Amino acid sequence: MNDSLINDLRALVGNAYVVDQPADMAPHLVDWRGRHRGNAACLVYPQDTRQVSAVLKYCLASGVRVYPQGGNTSVCGGSVPGEDGDNVLLSLAKMNRIIEVNPRNNSMTAQAGCVLADLQEAASEADRLFPLSLGAEGSCQIGGNIATNAGGTNVVRYGNTRDLVLGLEVVLPDGRIWNGLRTLRKNNSGYDLKNLFIGAEGTLGIVTAAALKLFPKPKSMATALLGFASADAAVDEGIRLQGLFPGELVGLELISRSEFEISIRHGAHLRNPFQGETPPWTVLVELASPEPGAGIHERLNTVLEADYEAGIFVDVVIATTEQNRQGFWQIRHNVTEANGREGMGLTHDIAVPTYLIPEFLTQAEDLLRRSYPQAVPVIVGHMGDGNLHYIAMFPHEYWAAVQDKPGLQRQLSHDLYDIAAAMGGTFSAEHGIGSLHVAEMRKYKDGIEVDVMRQIKDLLDPTGMMNPGRVLPQ
Ligand code: FAD
Ligand code: LAC
Ligand code: ZN
Repeated sequence: MNDSLINDLRALVGNAYVVDQPADMAPHLVDWRGRHRGNAACLVYPQDTRQVSAVLKYCLASGVRVYPQGGNTSVCGGSVPGEDGDNVLLSLAKMNRIIEVNPRNNSMTAQAGCVLADLQEAASEADRLFPLSLGAEGSCQIGGNIATNAGGTNVVRYGNTRDLVLGLEVVLPDGRIWNGLRTLRKNNSGYDLKNLFIGAEGTLGIVTAAALKLFPKPKSMATALLGFASADAAVDEGIRLQGLFPGELVGLELISRSEFEISIRHGAHLRNPFQGETPPWTVLVELASPEPGAGIHERLNTVLEADYEAGIFVDVVIATTEQNRQGFWQIRHNVTEANGREGMGLTHDIAVPTYLIPEFLTQAEDLLRRSYPQAVPVIVGHMGDGNLHYIAMFPHEYWAAVQDKPGLQRQLSHDLYDIAAAMGGTFSAEHGIGSLHVAEMRKYKDGIEVDVMRQIKDLLDPTGMMNPGRVLPQ
């Protein structure tokens, strides 16, 4: 079966673009953190949309399951195929052409396999900003970002990926190509199909290209690390700064002392910018302005000086050079990698209304202290969006006791999700569902919502060939 599958696919996309050697496939069959593994008969690299269409038509006719893969940076088991060896893993990596950058229309059109950092660079060369930014930007692809509706560190100003997409080209599971690559700002002509595919995690079709929004490129930035004695004070000040710098505040990240120190401990290239002890809570605040010069920096300085005098925060470091600024962001973006070295972290991607973050943290800490005393709370999050990565970090020596107890791990996660849910929050804010959170869909989403999603899935993918086992309960 696999031999004829591979030969048929080679006839569709070319010999060199179907890979079946175990060593070549291996890096694509395990996720970035080494926690999820899958299997596939082969890895296919279409080079254009027509080939994607031909592969899907063939797979539908042959009853073969298809798993799309972007940069393989999913942190919820979305990017690796199922365990069955008959799968086709379809990589978008060879579809990485920027089709158009149009500064006069503030838009950019690109194939789905473009790496996010390359799109940021192309926008910058045209004196524009493509604001989506996240730690994995050097390897994640825009198709993956769209499929997961990725968030990241600029959402507080520019929104999620969903807010940055003007149009899409999608290949449906039956091979039909929907060309919705429009660059319009307004288009009320019926249901907004593109939003169905954004965040669908490849369960409804394959995104092959996207038209994206660009923004004026900031001409000056002001960046600071603020140290707080409590999360309450951090959140209050964050909300205040949002009011003081509307339109200019582009980043508002929260980092617990435990996380800040882990990032530095496992980042040989990093140094702690705080002179004394790391404060219990750090907020990384960034402002951006279309005006060149030091104006924005001075305005931030003035506000921070007064707030420091008023005792609102306990420490502050302001970036005076671009190198300082980069250093702050490196500490922030190093967290996922550093956490992997520190121990075994059960990561959660919850969101609550921003003003309720302190209440969530208090209840979560009580829970860990009471029921999971070996776990250290490690917190990093996009505070401006109410989105926290709440990590119950088990030092390696304790992990053995938890490792073989999936029930216990699930209980811990559900206890945390229950706290978020009681505040009107969510168990999945920006990473998506993947294979990891499918069970939570039934427990935490409204039943009607899940039923309608299932009906949409059945309509577009009646055989269930696209990314089975992801997002929706089977
Ligand atoms: P993959 O991981 O390859 O795939 C993700 C899902 O999308 C899978 O279900 C896959 O089947 C599907 N898919 C991929 N491409 C397509 C396509 N063209 N068409 C249809 N379906 C497709 N996420 C955030 O939201 N915010 C963050 O701040 C953030 N920071 C991160 C930092 C690090 C260090 C890491 C490792 C990950 C981080 N992530 C973050 C998670 C991850 O980077 C994002 O989810 C990213 O959007 C995934 O893109 P990808 O190209 O790697 O997709
Ligand atoms: C971050 C990833 C984990 O915010 O979403 O660093
Ligand atoms: Zn995040």
